[in-house]
Amino acid sequence: MSRHLPQPAPARRMADIAPFHVMELLTRARQLEAEGRSIIHMEVGEPDFPTPPAVIEAAEAFIRQGQVFYTPALGIPPLREAISRFYAERYGVNVSPERIAVTAGSSGALLLALAALLNPGDELLLPDPGYPCNRHFVRTLEGAPRAMAVGPETNYQPTAEQVAQHWTPRSKGLLVASPANPTGTLIETASMVELADCVAKRGGALLVDEIYHGLTYAPKDVPLGGGRDTDTALALSDEIFVINSFSTCFLLSKKLDRFLQ
Ligand SMILES: Cc1ncc(COP(=O)(O)O)c(C=O)c1O
Repeated sequence: MSRHLPQPAPARRMADIAPFHVMELLTRARQLEAEGRSIIHMEVGEPDFPTPPAVIEAAEAFIRQGQVFYTPALGIPPLREAISRFYAERYGVNVSPERIAVTAGSSGALLLALAALLNPGDELLLPDPGYPCNRHFVRTLEGAPRAMAVGPETNYQPTAEQVAQHWTPRSKGLLVASPANPTGTLIETASMVELADCVAKRGGALLVDEIYHGLTYAPKDVPLGGGRDTDTALALSDEIFVINSFSTCFLLSKKLDRFLQ
């Protein structure tokens, strides 16, 4: 017989952390699918094809070789070196492997970067609309998310002027995404330079989420939002935190096979 023990009260910060509704929608959609309904999934971004054979084979070989123990906390050196080479080849930017940390998913990277930056009560400026989990990551760390409303007049991206207006003595940084979720718009290099300068002048940190690089579908010479996703914010400064993602970049854009060759 299981014993009923009193439940501990949740931490006070949990009152500000809303569920990630899209996962509830996904659960419901899968339930309906299991009941035989035909569902077109528009809730989460996932590849519409199975894991490529090269990935399955590499994972299998890795496990068979018995490499199932702790790895260095920042990622295995060959992977960090490969990511460094990728940045040199794709963007022409020199990012030494020592500056690269590998995490399980970009949420882990966002949390780590924010944990390294925010003290309780510190504000993080975020464009609204934006990726909904970001404000909850900030609250989990007892920081204060500060939303900046962005609209079509600025291509749904914040400008340096807006950042300057919203900045307070408690502000610690700015987190943007290019291409952004949910709008898909890019930040042009000139605007990124202005944002970086504006934040640096105030002693803050700039974090740039680039996980949707490679997923722009506008014609090459007229990209969505006017910017180019072939530029990384890392080309502007070594002091910017850039978050990228394997599965989003390579699986969603079906480029994995080429990368692994
Ligand atoms: C802009 C943005 N950043 C980060 C994430 C989190 O990615 P991951 O699933 O790799 O943790 C998402 C997921 O949708 C996203 O849209």
